[in-house]
Amino acid sequence: MSTFQAPKGTYDLTPPRSATFLAVREAISAPLRDSGYGYIETPGFENVELFARGVGESTDIVTKEMYTLTTKGSDQLALRPEGTASVLRAALEANLHKAGNLPVKLWYSGSYYRYERPQAGRYRHFSQVGAEAIGTEDPVLDAELIILADQAYRSLGLRQFRILLNSLGDKECRPVYREALQTFLRDLDLDEETRRRIEINPLRVLDDKRADVQKQLTDAPKLRDYLCDACKAYHEEVRALITAAGVVFEDDEKLVRGLDYYTRTTFEFVHDGLGSQSAVGGGGRYDGLSEMIGGPELPSVGWALGVDRTVLALEAEGVELDLPATTSVYAVPLGEEARRVLFGVVTELRRAGIAADFAFGGRGLKGAMKSANRSGARYTLVAGERDLAEGVVQLKDMESGEQTAVPL
Ligand code: HAM
Repeated sequence: MSTFQAPKGTYDLTPPRSATFLAVREAISAPLRDSGYGYIETPGFENVELFARGVGESTDIVTKEMYTLTTKGSDQLALRPEGTASVLRAALEANLHKAGNLPVKLWYSGSYYRYERPQAGRYRHFSQVGAEAIGTEDPVLDAELIILADQAYRSLGLRQFRILLNSLGDKECRPVYREALQTFLRDLDLDEETRRRIEINPLRVLDDKRADVQKQLTDAPKLRDYLCDACKAYHEEVRALITAAGVVFEDDEKLVRGLDYYTRTTFEFVHDGLGSQSAVGGGGRYDGLSEMIGGPELPSVGWALGVDRTVLALEAEGVELDLPATTSVYAVPLGEEARRVLFGVVTELRRAGIAADFAFGGRGLKGAMKSANRSGARYTLVAGERDLAEGVVQLKDMESGEQTAVPL
């Protein structure tokens, strides 16, 4: 070990576990790539104001969890705590919404940063694969995204996840509900911080985990009773579409999510094997976000799935991904001349598209064969001086153990 360790709340991805992370990213993005989503990549940091306005001034993410910095040029930046605001900013900046092809469907994969209290499944540096469909209000689009996330998890072999679904209303009905809720909450026996929250973001109070708070919330007005007809019809359509696709979900009235930009459809994927950090992914519709960051009206919907927690979910379910060995042929030279010749063979194999590796460092046969085994290679090429004199190498089938001399 060196003097240094990975910073608190972070961890390194090293082989062999890192291969599972790559496979998870691949599996989550595959259904998106097959459904018209184009790849987008944005900077790891943005103007801090983008997140303050987009994610919300009153959210934990913005008030407590952002890594902010002032550059030498006095720019106020933040490491990105999430992807949606950045992706929308980038799409607007590139005028993708003006290309006459709505929705603009994008997917992304990358690192995100939140200064949270670290615990199992909760890190300060984590990784998401996400999708955003920008510029169209259509329940089919909401359904598409939920179905694709479900498909991604199922393709990985995950079974013990649940989909929680809710509607948060729109700019017509939510303010009416918000006020009714505030009136109700103001009469309760709550601490100062929660009282402040009533004024800024009352829906978050419903999310309070404390039993004495929950007890007082039994008769709180329900958003469902306040949804306008348009929101109700929209939500029913989303529910019908995902039901028709055979995707099982649970209606969860309490689902409010930790970001302020959501309207109408919101959903979360939770995994029951993960303890308190059970949300493996989440998303929803954000019809007002574009205008909040200075863009035109562009109703949109998206999700992000956490790669770290998805890997933990696989481990919790005991799912072993079927990862093919990365090396097909492993070359073991015995002697100087064989080293040169076999390295040439390995180079040729690689150029021909065959994954090949080599026993470096002139080790003995025993140690080299151990490495060959560990590599998972189907074939080993062994050559010593006598083989070379005869113009052959020994090709060993690692499955059957059979060895044959083949001409060089
Ligand atoms: P989010 O729910 O904040 O949503 O994050 C999505 C997922 O990222 C979570 O379900 C979780 O798996 C993972 N995640 C979040 N924080 C951490 C952490 N500290 N450690 C490990 N994993 C974490 C969003 O970020 C929205 N941008 C999703 C979205 C896209 N909504 C619309 N479009």
